[in-house]
Order: sequence, then structure tokens, then C-alpha cells
Amino acid sequence: MDHIDLAIAAQTKRVEVDHRFFYEPLMSAHPNEETDLSLLFLGKKLKAPLWVSSMTGGVGPARHINQNLARLCHEFGLGMGLGSCRVLLDDDTYFKDFNLRPILGPDLPLYANLGIAQIENLLAERKHQKITDLITRLDADGLVVHINPLQEWFQPEGDRLKNSPIETLAKLCDFFKSKIIVKEVGQGFGPESLKALLDLPIEAIELAAFGGTNFTKLEQMRGEGVWMESLSKVGHTAPEMVSMLNLLLRAHPEYKQKQIIISGGVENILDGYFLRENLMFTSVIGQAKNFLSHAQDYKELQRFTEGLVNGLKIAKVFLVARPLNSSQALNEDYL
Ligand SMILES: Cc1cc2nc3c(=O)[nH]c(=O)nc-3n(C[C@H](O)[C@H](O)[C@H](O)COP(=O)(O)O)c2cc1C
Repeated sequence: MDHIDLAIAAQTKRVEVDHRFFYEPLMSAHPNEETDLSLLFLGKKLKAPLWVSSMTGGVGPARHINQNLARLCHEFGLGMGLGSCRVLLDDDTYFKDFNLRPILGPDLPLYANLGIAQIENLLAERKHQKITDLITRLDADGLVVHINPLQEWFQPEGDRLKNSPIETLAKLCDFFKSKIIVKEVGQGFGPESLKALLDLPIEAIELAAFGGTNFTKLEQMRGEGVWMESLSKVGHTAPEMVSMLNLLLRAHPEYKQKQIIISGGVENILDGYFLRENLMFTSVIGQAKNFLSHAQDYKELQRFTEGLVNGLKIAKVFLVARPLNSSQALNEDYL
């Protein structure tokens, strides 16, 4: 009866077809418990190629949200980046918001997070030890550094960078012995920046690409400064950055050891699957806003994540990603 009732409502149009995949219904059985999505990422084994991108801490509901996210990572075997740990540098008031290792367990990646502006200041004040201490206190595997010059510019209480981020990162790499991940916060990186990151002795790059949460826009919404919407529209999408990374890798096979978190506007699991299948580096799919939207209620978070994992399993057995159009021109000088 449902079929008769719903058939009219269940019509699709030819233009709605998702051209990114070949659908091969003949070639596999359904996925089951044995369908394996696991991989080694940042030296630890994940049960699925999914990453909870850096978000929050040090404010009202953050502890509950973070604890739910860590519990989720423990249950589903995922990796996690903490939100900015700046508030922990001088004070332990909010330590519990970030102290997620006991929930996550020892076997999954957990990364602390600081902005490039804080790192620049700490290095200028010769307080290198504070960065190392942060990692020890949180029992983190390493540090995510977010590079956010446009956000800082528009943030009412934002910092001003005195040096280029790449100089500060190079100094950080000189003394910091744990793993480093570098990310943007929602506008991605252009080819020159990407290449500079691939040349640094860091472990991974998180794209934090354009097309999802946008902090240049968000900070302008918070402040009363001059509204410059045009600057919130610059950046690079995740598909464009995947193309750039592949081109850079073709020219420099030694970059292969770098690992990538594909994030920024990964709206649904097929977006992530498609980009991951096309990227020639070891990678995982990262999301911030989508996890946050479900993070208050653990059951809802579980259901959402089950959808991601099952979506990946179904895609793995029935969908073949077509090549990403790498027509986005890349100036050969960058290679
Ligand atoms: C509420 C919220 C807080 C965030 N805070 C941080 C942060 O402290 N440090 C950071 O590196 N990125 C932060 N981000 C950026 C995310 O890690 C991510 O790069 C960005 O939101 C793009 O991913 P999305 O489109 O899936 O949201 C935050 C994002 C959200 C939604």
C-alpha cells in the first residue's frame, strides 16, 4: 500500500542524477559487519575514515558537546581535533572541557589546537615550553595549528600577525617534537600555500576549505566594523584543493607521505567519499558543523554517525567515483 501511496511523491528528475559516480549494482553483495573501512591515520588505527574537526571549548555548553564528541570517537573509532586551546595556556579553569583523552582512550588520535597568532606570540616571548606543556597536559598526540588571517582581521578582538604564518610554522617545526597538523578555518589554501605546507616537516594538512562554515563572514556578523562581504567569498573549495594536491603530488612524489583531512563544506557523505576516492594521498573526511548540529544529544549523534559509516560502506561496494575534473588551472610555477 505504501508503494501505491508514495510512488507519485517519489519521482525524481533526470537533472537530479549525481554524475560523480558509476553505479554498479551487479558487482557486490550488500555490506555487512565485515565490510572494513579501517585505516592507519597519523600512526593510529581508525575504524572509519572520519574526523571530528576542531570546534569548541571554554564556554557554557562546550564541555557537554566535547564529551559527547569524544564518546562518539571512542565508540566509532574516529579521530578528533580539539577546538582552540588558547584558554588553557595560562589557566586551568576550562581544562575539563578539553580533557578528552580519558573518554577517547589511548588508541585514537587526539590533537590540541592553537591559532598561528598565539604561536607567533608565544615564540616571540620565548614561551615555547607552554606549547609542549599543553600537549602533555592533554595527553594529545600533537597539535593542530589553525591559520586564519582573514578571521583575525575581522574578529572584533582579533590579533594582527607580525610575521608570515609560514615563517612561524618553520620555527615551530624546529623545536616541537610531536606531530603537527595545519588547517585553515573555512577558506582553504591556494597552491603556493599548499606547496609550502607540503615542504614543511609536518604530518598532515586539514583543508578546512571554502563552502561550509565561514569565519570571515561570522566575525563580520559579530562586529560593528566595515562590512566587506566580498572577502568572505574568497578561498578554495575542497574539490579544487584535491585537484591542486594531486597535481603537486605528480610533480613531487615525495609529498606522498603527507596525510590529508578533507574538510570544509563536506555536506554529505558522498561528497566526502567522492573527494577521498579522487585524492592520491592517505586521507580522512572531516566535518565540523555537521557533527556540531547533532552533538547536544548523544543518541542523535550516534544516529548521524551511523548514517555516515553506512553511507561509506554502501558507496564502497556499489559506487565507483569518476575522475574529478582537474581543469582548475594551476600555474606550473607552483609545481
Ligand atoms: C562552532 C565552531 C567552532 C570552531 N572553532 C575552531 C577552532 O577553535 N579552531 C579551529 O582550528 N577551527 C575551528 N572551527 C573550524 C572548523 O574546524 C572547520 O575548519 C570549519 O568549520 C569548516 O568545516 P565545516 O564546513 O564542516 O564546518 C570551528 C568551527 C565551528 C563550526
